[in-house]
Amino acid sequence: MNEREWPVCGEDELGDPGAHAFETGDGDWPFRGFVVRSQGGLYAYANVCPHRQHPLNLVGDDFLTPDGTLLRCASHGAMFEIATGHCVLGPCTGQALISLPVRVADGRVLVTAPDSLESVPGLLSR
Ligand code: FES
Repeated sequence: MNEREWPVCGEDELGDPGAHAFETGDGDWPFRGFVVRSQGGLYAYANVCPHRQHPLNLVGDDFLTPDGTLLRCASHGAMFEIATGHCVLGPCTGQALISLPVRVADGRVLVTAPDSLESVPGLLSR
């Protein structure tokens, strides 16, 4: 798998709670992910729901429930713990989002991610 560290946003662009979508690579199948901050913790996940592999957001950075305590898939309403990515409610309860390494350096949020969806074995064919 071709992966490297990508700058996805400025640390000050993320609320707490807050989330930000990103995309890596420029081929036909870019890799889509998102970063999320909650209670001071910073997390990153592939933007692929374990239920039907849809992106969690319909538009923009809309990943959180209105109260900001859980992640929500807009397609069929699955809910995920922010800190673990585990689905706690909905059609994929017991499954989990794919987590990605994330860190902050010089005020930038950096995520280690593939350069395309094609380079993630099995993800396109799920
Ligand atoms: S694709 Fe996410 S809940 Fe169905």
